[in-house]
Amino acid sequence: MTIDFDEIIDRRGTECTKWDGMKPLYDVDPQDGISMWVADMDFRPPQSVQGMFADLVSHGIYGYCYDAGAFHASVIDWMRERHGWTVEPEWLMTTAGVISGIGLAIQACSKPGDGVIIFTPVYHVFHRLIRDNGRKSVESELRQVDGRYEMDLETLESQLDGSERIVLLCSPHNPGGRVWSVDELRALADFCKAHDLILISDEIHHDLVYSHARHTIMSKAAPEHIDRIIVCAAPTKTFNIAGALTGELIIEDPDLRARVKALHAAITPSANGIGTRAARAAYAGGAEWLDTLLPYLDGNRRLFDAGVNTIPGVRSMPLESTYLSWVDFSGTGMDAKEVSERVRADARIAVNQGPTFGKGGETWLRFNFATRRALVEEAVSRLQSAFADLQ
Ligand SMILES: Cc1ncc(COP(=O)(O)O)c(C=O)c1O
Repeated sequence: MTIDFDEIIDRRGTECTKWDGMKPLYDVDPQDGISMWVADMDFRPPQSVQGMFADLVSHGIYGYCYDAGAFHASVIDWMRERHGWTVEPEWLMTTAGVISGIGLAIQACSKPGDGVIIFTPVYHVFHRLIRDNGRKSVESELRQVDGRYEMDLETLESQLDGSERIVLLCSPHNPGGRVWSVDELRALADFCKAHDLILISDEIHHDLVYSHARHTIMSKAAPEHIDRIIVCAAPTKTFNIAGALTGELIIEDPDLRARVKALHAAITPSANGIGTRAARAAYAGGAEWLDTLLPYLDGNRRLFDAGVNTIPGVRSMPLESTYLSWVDFSGTGMDAKEVSERVRADARIAVNQGPTFGKGGETWLRFNFATRRALVEEAVSRLQSAFADLQ
Protein backbone atom coordinates (compact mmCIF):
# COMPACT_ATOMS: atom_id res chain seq x y z
CA MET A 1 0.00 0.00 0.00
CA THR A 2 1.39 3.44 -0.90
CA ILE A 3 1.42 6.05 1.80
CA ASP A 4 0.91 9.55 0.42
CA PHE A 5 1.44 12.30 2.96
CA ASP A 6 1.07 14.91 0.18
CA GLU A 7 -2.57 14.02 -0.41
CA ILE A 8 -4.92 16.96 0.05
CA ILE A 9 -7.41 16.10 2.80
CA ASP A 10 -9.88 18.84 3.63
CA ARG A 11 -10.60 18.60 7.36
CA ARG A 12 -12.78 21.70 7.53
CA GLY A 13 -16.32 21.07 8.71
CA THR A 14 -15.47 17.70 10.29
CA GLU A 15 -15.65 18.88 13.93
CA CYS A 16 -11.88 18.74 14.20
CA THR A 17 -10.23 20.98 16.77
CA LYS A 18 -7.36 21.97 14.52
CA TRP A 19 -9.28 23.43 11.56
CA ASP A 20 -12.76 24.03 12.94
CA GLY A 21 -11.41 25.62 16.12
CA MET A 22 -9.08 28.10 14.39
CA LYS A 23 -11.72 30.78 13.76
CA PRO A 24 -13.33 30.80 17.22
CA LEU A 25 -10.04 30.38 19.09
CA TYR A 26 -7.53 32.29 16.96
CA ASP A 27 -9.67 34.41 14.67
CA VAL A 28 -8.10 32.95 11.54
CA ASP A 29 -10.60 32.08 8.84
CA PRO A 30 -10.22 28.46 7.67
CA GLN A 31 -11.27 29.50 4.15
CA ASP A 32 -7.82 30.90 3.41
CA GLY A 33 -5.98 30.39 6.70
CA ILE A 34 -3.47 27.68 7.60
CA SER A 35 -3.87 25.79 10.86
CA MET A 36 -0.56 25.12 12.60
CA TRP A 37 -1.57 24.91 16.23
CA VAL A 38 -2.87 21.88 18.20
CA ALA A 39 -0.70 18.76 17.94
CA ASP A 40 -2.34 16.45 15.50
CA MET A 41 -1.41 15.74 11.91
CA ASP A 42 -3.34 16.26 8.67
CA PHE A 43 -2.56 12.68 7.62
CA ARG A 44 -4.57 9.47 7.60
CA PRO A 45 -3.38 6.87 10.13
CA PRO A 46 -1.88 3.49 9.22
CA GLN A 47 -3.95 1.12 7.10
CA SER A 48 -4.22 -1.23 10.10
CA VAL A 49 -6.32 1.41 11.88
CA GLN A 50 -8.47 2.11 8.82
CA GLY A 51 -9.02 -1.63 8.37
CA MET A 52 -10.05 -2.04 12.01
CA PHE A 53 -12.64 0.74 11.67
CA ALA A 54 -13.92 -0.66 8.36
CA ASP A 55 -14.43 -4.06 9.99
CA LEU A 56 -16.14 -2.50 12.99
CA VAL A 57 -18.50 -0.46 10.82
CA SER A 58 -19.26 -3.38 8.56
CA HIS A 59 -20.22 -5.49 11.58
CA GLY A 60 -22.13 -2.51 12.91
CA ILE A 61 -22.20 -3.34 16.61
CA TYR A 62 -20.60 -1.01 19.15
CA GLY A 63 -21.17 -2.73 22.46
CA TYR A 64 -18.84 -3.19 25.42
CA CYS A 65 -15.46 -4.54 24.46
CA TYR A 66 -13.90 -7.68 25.97
CA ASP A 67 -10.26 -7.36 25.02
CA ALA A 68 -8.72 -10.07 27.27
CA GLY A 69 -5.41 -8.22 27.49
CA ALA A 70 -5.00 -7.68 23.74
CA PHE A 71 -4.39 -3.92 23.99
CA HIS A 72 -1.80 -4.37 26.73
CA ALA A 73 -0.11 -7.12 24.70
CA SER A 74 0.25 -4.66 21.81
CA VAL A 75 1.82 -2.07 24.14
CA ILE A 76 4.24 -4.69 25.45
CA ASP A 77 5.29 -5.68 21.91
CA TRP A 78 5.74 -2.05 20.89
CA MET A 79 7.84 -1.15 23.92
CA ARG A 80 10.04 -4.20 23.41
CA GLU A 81 10.54 -3.74 19.68
CA ARG A 82 10.79 0.05 19.43
CA HIS A 83 12.18 1.02 22.84
CA GLY A 84 14.02 -2.10 24.03
CA TRP A 85 11.93 -2.08 27.21
CA THR A 86 10.46 -5.24 28.70
CA VAL A 87 7.11 -4.40 30.25
CA GLU A 88 5.13 -6.93 32.29
CA PRO A 89 1.33 -7.02 31.81
CA GLU A 90 0.61 -6.16 35.44
CA TRP A 91 2.53 -2.86 35.16
CA LEU A 92 -0.08 -1.44 32.76
CA MET A 93 -3.23 0.60 33.28
CA THR A 94 -5.33 1.89 30.38
CA THR A 95 -6.26 5.55 30.62
CA ALA A 96 -8.50 7.93 28.69
CA GLY A 97 -5.45 9.56 27.15
CA VAL A 98 -2.17 10.72 28.63
CA ILE A 99 -3.50 13.85 30.31
CA SER A 100 -6.17 11.88 32.11
CA GLY A 101 -3.47 9.39 33.24
CA ILE A 102 -1.30 12.22 34.55
CA GLY A 103 -4.26 13.70 36.42
CA LEU A 104 -4.88 10.34 38.02
CA ALA A 105 -1.23 9.95 39.00
CA ILE A 106 -1.17 13.47 40.48
CA GLN A 107 -4.23 12.71 42.59
CA ALA A 108 -2.87 9.38 43.75
CA CYS A 109 0.57 10.71 44.69
CA SER A 110 -0.10 14.12 46.24
CA LYS A 111 -2.71 16.10 48.10
CA PRO A 112 -4.37 19.47 47.36
CA GLY A 113 -1.95 22.36 47.75
CA ASP A 114 1.15 20.24 47.07
CA GLY A 115 3.70 21.47 44.54
CA VAL A 116 4.19 19.86 41.13
CA ILE A 117 7.47 20.82 39.46
CA ILE A 118 7.42 21.45 35.72
CA PHE A 119 10.21 22.57 33.40
CA THR A 120 9.01 25.61 31.47
CA PRO A 121 8.25 26.51 28.81
CA VAL A 122 6.21 23.32 28.67
CA TYR A 123 3.04 21.87 27.13
CA HIS A 124 0.42 24.41 28.23
CA VAL A 125 -2.09 21.81 29.42
CA PHE A 126 0.27 20.84 32.28
CA HIS A 127 -0.35 24.21 33.94
CA ARG A 128 -4.11 23.84 33.68
CA LEU A 129 -4.11 20.22 34.82
CA ILE A 130 -2.09 20.99 37.94
CA ARG A 131 -4.35 23.93 38.78
CA ASP A 132 -7.56 22.00 38.10
CA ASN A 133 -6.38 19.28 40.45
CA GLY A 134 -5.90 21.85 43.21
CA ARG A 135 -2.11 21.51 43.18
CA LYS A 136 0.45 24.26 42.70
CA SER A 137 2.76 24.60 39.68
CA VAL A 138 6.40 25.07 40.59
CA GLU A 139 8.02 26.41 37.43
CA SER A 140 11.66 25.63 36.83
CA GLU A 141 12.73 27.56 33.77
CA LEU A 142 14.80 25.68 31.22
CA ARG A 143 18.13 27.24 30.26
CA GLN A 144 19.17 27.68 26.67
CA VAL A 145 22.59 26.20 26.12
CA ASP A 146 23.93 26.24 22.56
CA GLY A 147 20.42 26.98 21.33
CA ARG A 148 18.67 24.08 23.02
CA TYR A 149 17.02 23.52 26.38
CA GLU A 150 18.66 22.09 29.47
CA MET A 151 17.24 21.57 32.95
CA ASP A 152 18.70 23.70 35.71
CA LEU A 153 18.50 21.44 38.76
CA GLU A 154 20.83 23.61 40.83
CA THR A 155 18.56 26.63 40.66
CA LEU A 156 15.53 24.40 41.14
CA GLU A 157 17.05 22.99 44.32
CA SER A 158 17.44 26.49 45.73
CA GLN A 159 13.76 27.23 44.94
CA LEU A 160 12.27 24.25 46.83
CA ASP A 161 10.17 25.02 49.91
CA GLY A 162 9.30 21.48 50.95
CA SER A 163 5.73 21.50 49.56
CA GLU A 164 6.78 19.74 46.33
CA ARG A 165 5.69 16.13 45.88
CA ILE A 166 5.95 15.50 42.15
CA VAL A 167 8.11 16.28 39.14
CA LEU A 168 6.15 16.20 35.90
CA LEU A 169 8.60 15.76 33.05
CA CYS A 170 7.83 16.07 29.36
CA SER A 171 10.12 13.58 27.61
CA PRO A 172 10.78 14.30 24.78
CA HIS A 173 10.11 17.92 25.60
CA ASN A 174 7.24 19.88 24.09
CA PRO A 175 7.96 22.58 23.01
CA GLY A 176 11.54 22.67 21.75
CA GLY A 177 11.75 18.96 20.93
CA ARG A 178 14.59 18.09 23.30
CA VAL A 179 15.27 14.38 23.63
CA TRP A 180 16.79 14.17 27.11
CA SER A 181 20.04 12.22 27.34
CA VAL A 182 20.41 9.25 29.67
CA ASP A 183 22.68 11.39 31.87
CA GLU A 184 20.07 14.13 32.11
CA LEU A 185 17.32 11.64 32.94
CA ARG A 186 19.48 9.97 35.57
CA ALA A 187 20.38 13.31 37.13
CA LEU A 188 16.70 14.17 37.38
CA ALA A 189 15.82 10.79 38.91
CA ASP A 190 18.65 11.24 41.46
CA PHE A 191 17.24 14.69 42.25
CA CYS A 192 13.82 13.13 42.84
CA LYS A 193 15.34 10.57 45.16
CA ALA A 194 17.23 13.26 47.09
CA HIS A 195 14.04 15.29 47.60
CA ASP A 196 11.60 12.40 47.88
CA LEU A 197 9.61 13.31 44.79
CA ILE A 198 7.50 11.12 42.50
CA LEU A 199 8.64 11.40 38.87
CA ILE A 200 5.85 11.35 36.29
CA SER A 201 7.30 11.09 32.79
CA ASP A 202 4.99 12.04 29.93
CA GLU A 203 6.46 10.20 26.94
CA ILE A 204 3.67 10.73 24.43
CA HIS A 205 6.15 12.05 21.82
CA HIS A 206 8.57 9.13 22.30
CA ASP A 207 8.14 7.71 18.79
CA LEU A 208 8.36 11.02 16.95
CA VAL A 209 12.13 11.27 17.23
CA TYR A 210 14.44 12.21 14.34
CA SER A 211 17.28 9.95 13.28
CA HIS A 212 19.96 12.15 14.90
CA ALA A 213 18.53 11.58 18.40
CA ARG A 214 17.63 8.60 20.56
CA HIS A 215 14.89 8.55 23.18
CA THR A 216 15.30 6.58 26.41
CA ILE A 217 12.33 5.56 28.53
CA MET A 218 12.70 7.03 32.03
CA SER A 219 12.46 3.64 33.78
CA LYS A 220 15.27 2.32 31.58
CA ALA A 221 17.46 5.35 32.22
CA ALA A 222 17.17 5.12 36.01
CA PRO A 223 16.20 1.56 36.96
CA GLU A 224 17.43 2.05 40.53
CA HIS A 225 14.68 4.64 41.04
CA ILE A 226 11.69 2.75 39.68
CA ASP A 227 10.04 3.00 43.09
CA ARG A 228 9.21 6.62 42.19
CA ILE A 229 8.75 6.50 38.40
CA ILE A 230 5.45 6.59 36.51
CA VAL A 231 5.64 6.47 32.71
CA CYS A 232 2.70 7.81 30.69
CA ALA A 233 2.54 6.85 27.02
CA ALA A 234 0.09 6.41 24.16
CA PRO A 235 0.06 5.55 20.47
CA THR A 236 -2.28 8.45 19.70
CA LYS A 237 0.33 11.09 18.88
CA THR A 238 2.54 8.62 17.02
CA PHE A 239 -0.19 7.35 14.72
CA ASN A 240 -2.43 10.42 14.54
CA ILE A 241 -5.42 8.97 16.34
CA ALA A 242 -5.65 11.62 19.07
CA GLY A 243 -9.45 11.43 19.03
CA ALA A 244 -9.18 7.85 20.33
CA LEU A 245 -8.09 9.38 23.69
CA THR A 246 -6.45 6.18 24.84
CA GLY A 247 -3.17 5.83 26.64
CA GLU A 248 -1.33 3.84 29.24
CA LEU A 249 0.26 4.31 32.62
CA ILE A 250 3.22 2.00 33.14
CA ILE A 251 4.37 1.54 36.74
CA GLU A 252 6.96 -1.05 37.55
CA ASP A 253 7.10 -0.75 41.34
CA PRO A 254 4.32 -2.76 43.05
CA ASP A 255 3.77 -0.33 45.96
CA LEU A 256 3.60 2.77 43.80
CA ARG A 257 1.40 0.88 41.35
CA ALA A 258 -1.00 -0.19 44.10
CA ARG A 259 -1.49 3.46 45.11
CA VAL A 260 -2.35 4.52 41.57
CA LYS A 261 -4.33 1.38 40.79
CA ALA A 262 -6.73 1.94 43.67
CA LEU A 263 -7.73 5.32 42.23
CA HIS A 264 -7.71 3.97 38.68
CA ALA A 265 -10.17 1.24 39.69
CA ALA A 266 -12.35 3.84 41.40
CA ILE A 267 -12.69 6.14 38.42
CA THR A 268 -11.85 4.10 35.28
CA PRO A 269 -13.42 0.68 35.87
CA SER A 270 -13.46 -0.10 32.13
CA ALA A 271 -11.68 1.22 29.06
CA ASN A 272 -13.01 2.86 25.92
CA GLY A 273 -13.29 -0.15 23.61
CA ILE A 274 -13.25 1.83 20.37
CA GLY A 275 -10.15 3.72 21.50
CA THR A 276 -8.29 0.59 22.60
CA ARG A 277 -9.17 -1.16 19.34
CA ALA A 278 -7.75 1.76 17.35
CA ALA A 279 -4.68 1.95 19.58
CA ARG A 280 -4.06 -1.80 19.31
CA ALA A 281 -4.41 -1.77 15.53
CA ALA A 282 -1.95 1.13 15.35
CA TYR A 283 0.65 -0.54 17.57
CA ALA A 284 0.23 -3.87 15.82
CA GLY A 285 0.32 -2.70 12.21
CA GLY A 286 1.70 0.83 12.15
CA ALA A 287 5.48 0.38 12.18
CA GLU A 288 6.01 0.75 8.43
CA TRP A 289 3.74 3.79 8.29
CA LEU A 290 5.74 5.41 11.10
CA ASP A 291 9.03 4.65 9.38
CA THR A 292 7.68 6.42 6.29
CA LEU A 293 6.26 9.32 8.28
CA LEU A 294 9.44 10.26 10.14
CA PRO A 295 11.57 11.14 7.09
CA TYR A 296 8.61 13.06 5.65
CA LEU A 297 8.30 15.09 8.86
CA ASP A 298 12.05 15.59 8.83
CA GLY A 299 11.76 17.06 5.33
CA ASN A 300 9.06 19.46 6.56
CA ARG A 301 11.19 20.34 9.56
CA ARG A 302 14.18 21.28 7.37
CA LEU A 303 12.02 23.25 4.98
CA PHE A 304 10.28 25.18 7.74
CA ASP A 305 13.51 25.89 9.64
CA ALA A 306 15.36 27.04 6.55
CA GLY A 307 12.45 29.30 5.58
CA VAL A 308 11.72 31.02 8.90
CA ASN A 309 15.38 31.44 9.76
CA THR A 310 15.81 33.71 6.71
CA ILE A 311 13.66 36.31 8.49
CA PRO A 312 16.00 38.67 10.37
CA GLY A 313 15.66 38.27 14.14
CA VAL A 314 13.68 35.02 13.91
CA ARG A 315 15.17 31.73 15.09
CA SER A 316 13.65 28.26 15.34
CA MET A 317 14.99 25.84 17.92
CA PRO A 318 16.62 22.79 16.25
CA LEU A 319 14.25 19.92 16.98
CA GLU A 320 15.34 16.42 17.97
CA SER A 321 11.74 15.30 18.18
CA THR A 322 8.11 16.33 17.61
CA TYR A 323 6.57 18.11 14.62
CA LEU A 324 6.17 21.32 16.61
CA SER A 325 8.57 24.04 15.57
CA TRP A 326 9.37 26.42 18.42
CA VAL A 327 10.23 29.81 17.05
CA ASP A 328 11.71 32.79 18.87
CA PHE A 329 10.81 36.23 17.55
CA SER A 330 12.70 38.21 20.21
CA GLY A 331 15.39 39.28 17.74
CA THR A 332 12.86 41.19 15.65
CA GLY A 333 12.60 43.84 18.35
CA MET A 334 8.80 43.70 18.11
CA ASP A 335 6.60 43.05 21.10
CA ALA A 336 4.79 39.72 21.31
CA LYS A 337 1.45 41.31 20.44
CA GLU A 338 2.71 42.72 17.17
CA VAL A 339 4.36 39.42 16.21
CA SER A 340 1.14 37.49 16.93
CA GLU A 341 -0.92 39.99 15.02
CA ARG A 342 1.29 39.76 11.95
CA VAL A 343 1.13 35.95 12.02
CA ARG A 344 -2.64 35.99 12.53
CA ALA A 345 -3.74 38.81 10.27
CA ASP A 346 -1.01 39.07 7.61
CA ALA A 347 0.17 35.44 7.31
CA ARG A 348 -3.28 34.07 8.25
CA ILE A 349 -1.78 31.25 10.27
CA ALA A 350 -3.23 29.90 13.54
CA VAL A 351 -0.41 29.02 15.99
CA ASN A 352 0.09 28.33 19.68
CA GLN A 353 1.11 31.40 21.66
CA GLY A 354 4.40 31.13 23.59
CA PRO A 355 3.24 32.72 26.87
CA THR A 356 0.73 29.88 27.40
CA PHE A 357 3.72 27.53 27.85
CA GLY A 358 4.86 29.40 30.97
CA LYS A 359 8.06 31.15 31.98
CA GLY A 360 10.52 31.41 29.12
CA GLY A 361 7.87 31.22 26.39
CA GLU A 362 7.09 34.94 26.22
CA THR A 363 8.65 35.72 22.84
CA TRP A 364 7.94 32.41 21.11
CA LEU A 365 5.30 30.86 18.88
CA ARG A 366 4.78 27.15 18.21
CA PHE A 367 4.08 25.97 14.65
CA ASN A 368 2.77 22.49 13.83
CA PHE A 369 4.28 21.44 10.48
CA ALA A 370 2.67 17.97 10.33
CA THR A 371 0.76 18.73 7.20
CA ARG A 372 1.32 18.24 3.47
CA ARG A 373 4.56 19.80 2.31
CA ALA A 374 2.93 22.26 -0.10
CA LEU A 375 1.12 23.85 2.83
CA VAL A 376 4.35 24.14 4.82
CA GLU A 377 5.89 25.90 1.81
CA GLU A 378 2.93 28.25 1.65
CA ALA A 379 3.18 28.98 5.39
CA VAL A 380 6.87 29.83 5.07
CA SER A 381 6.24 32.13 2.17
CA ARG A 382 3.40 33.91 4.05
CA LEU A 383 5.62 34.37 7.11
CA GLN A 384 8.42 35.79 4.98
CA SER A 385 5.95 38.27 3.44
CA ALA A 386 4.44 39.19 6.81
CA PHE A 387 7.90 40.22 8.06
CA ALA A 388 9.26 41.42 4.71
CA ASP A 389 9.92 44.92 6.08
CA LEU A 390 12.69 43.44 8.26
CA GLN A 391 14.72 42.31 5.23
C1 LIG B 1 3.35 16.44 26.06
C2 LIG B 1 1.92 16.09 25.77
N1 LIG B 1 1.25 15.32 26.62
C3 LIG B 1 -0.03 14.96 26.42
C4 LIG B 1 -0.70 15.39 25.28
C5 LIG B 1 -2.13 15.03 25.08
O1 LIG B 1 -2.36 13.72 25.43
P1 LIG B 1 -3.83 13.08 25.40
O2 LIG B 1 -4.54 13.65 24.22
O3 LIG B 1 -3.56 11.62 25.27
O4 LIG B 1 -4.46 13.41 26.70
C6 LIG B 1 -0.02 16.19 24.36
C7 LIG B 1 -0.72 16.68 23.15
O5 LIG B 1 -0.26 17.53 22.44
C8 LIG B 1 1.32 16.54 24.60
O6 LIG B 1 2.02 17.30 23.74
